Amino acid sequence: MKMVLASKNPHKLTELEAILSRLGIEVVLESQVGVDVEVEETGTTFEENAALKATAVMRASGLPAIADDSGLCVTALAGGPGVYSARYGGEGLNDKQRYELVLKGLSGQMDRSAKFVSCICCAFPNGDKVEARGECAGMIAYSPQGADGFGYDPIFLVPEAKKTFAQMDADEKNAISHRGVALQKFKVELEKYLNGTHQ
Ligand code: IMP
Repeated sequence: MKMVLASKNPHKLTELEAILSRLGIEVVLESQVGVDVEVEETGTTFEENAALKATAVMRASGLPAIADDSGLCVTALAGGPGVYSARYGGEGLNDKQRYELVLKGLSGQMDRSAKFVSCICCAFPNGDKVEARGECAGMIAYSPQGADGFGYDPIFLVPEAKKTFAQMDADEKNAISHRGVALQKFKVELEKYLNGTHQ
């Protein structure tokens, strides 16, 4: 099955492409089908924003389109930055400035628990949707560690692995990450949909 990846984030594209191709899905980029849509993420949940992005690209391309909406939810920041992860602190900041803001917000905080969330939505031209959600629990480190990854990876510590996401290679991260978990669940839901047993 051919699906258009509704994302312009190069890091997310690499991760999504790697996992989806292993699931036997032929992934094409928006640029490869001549689509360039700017989707305003006006939803208040990851689910809503993933559906907005997938639907817009499906309408523009006429093909099934798959989108991920994801973010970091920190307990002591009342679940923030959450759906605002990409824009935390304002549009002008870079990834490092954003994670530094999270570290600052947690200074003196005992509770450093957090989770990454990813919601995947595939929108089909007939109006159907297949959706899945994945989470990865962890802690916010006291200082950034590791050079790989993107976004908040350097401050997201996975206690079982004793590493941040930025200290993991791609396979190691994809095996446990919110996006990896969501895509594994998505695969099951997609198979149910294709077999006609989707609810
Ligand atoms: P959006 O889903 O495009 O709205 O953006 C999600 C934002 O959440 C990204 O820009 C990152 O800041 C953050 N994020 C999502 N997934 C990850 C991840 O795997 N590692 C680090 N940061 C992430």
